[in-house]
Amino acid sequence: MSRVSKDVRTFPVVSRKDTHLDALRRHPNPLAAAIGQSIYATLNYTVTEEEEGWIDRIEAHRAELSQSEERVVCMDYGAGKRDSRRTAQEMAVGVAVENTVGHFCRVSSKGARWCVLLFRLIRAVRPHSCVEMGAAVGISAAYQAAALHLNAAGSLITMEGAAPLAAVARQTLHHLGLDNATVMAGKFMDTLPSVLKHQPPIDYVFVDGHHDEAATQAYAEQLFSFLADQALLVFDDIAWNQPMKGAWQAIANDDRIHLAIDLGTIGIGLVAPTYRGPRFVSFPLE
Ligand SMILES: C[S@@+](CC[C@H](N)C(=O)[O-])C[C@H]1O[C@@H](n2cnc3c(N)ncnc32)[C@H](O)[C@@H]1O
Repeated sequence: MSRVSKDVRTFPVVSRKDTHLDALRRHPNPLAAAIGQSIYATLNYTVTEEEEGWIDRIEAHRAELSQSEERVVCMDYGAGKRDSRRTAQEMAVGVAVENTVGHFCRVSSKGARWCVLLFRLIRAVRPHSCVEMGAAVGISAAYQAAALHLNAAGSLITMEGAAPLAAVARQTLHHLGLDNATVMAGKFMDTLPSVLKHQPPIDYVFVDGHHDEAATQAYAEQLFSFLADQALLVFDDIAWNQPMKGAWQAIANDDRIHLAIDLGTIGIGLVAPTYRGPRFVSFPLE
């Protein structure tokens, strides 16, 4: 058993037998079913040899980056710690943080099992125009770009405020030979309008940065205007603190989301006007 498959198997076993999950993966709406199948395949760690090759290469690179002693000074335009309560002005100005690349890789990157879920989602849903908000050193971006590469369709723009991390993310993608992903450096508030304007209608977004209630809702609002007819909005850390729970509740209840799936840490909002079925589904994986 590989390190990744062991990590994926630490998701609670009970959720593998969840009846809501069974209903979702057999849903007549193809996108809803694809999401259900992705979750199911993640929990069972169903991967082909080619997929496992990519996962192993990305994880080998993560392990290498985690050891990096290179020191960098990063501007943090995010919400800080769970209880920081930074003002909008403070977040716009940013806070300088100095540490090693290894540290940023270890503390910022999504764990392998969640990255496998993102990978599986992209493999199953087959989006064309993908955006990630929050690249850090490019680990989740690599998983998503690898899935697009295997789909032989689609591209990813990943956005990062800290210039030194954006540079590492670029190296990560280059090192792995993933030329279907581009890193956009800069604050989301500055870069998101042009990313949205210059991308074809977006059908997949992973929001994994700036965990502030008002900012998260404002980004969702901006995103809605540029989505394809059918799209997936994936939000990380929806239960990180009370304000993030509030942001997810507001997004999940928005009329433009037809199905909101709460996985505990990650929330998936499906935009699919033809979807008929339960409006909210919840199977916490943690
Ligand atoms: C949790 S990390 C992303 C991890 C990455 N998705 C992964 O799993 O490999 C969040 C990143 O978002 C960036 N970020 C936070 N707020 C931002 C903002 N307002 N503008 C641009 N980048 C921001 C941070 O610098 C940080 O590197």
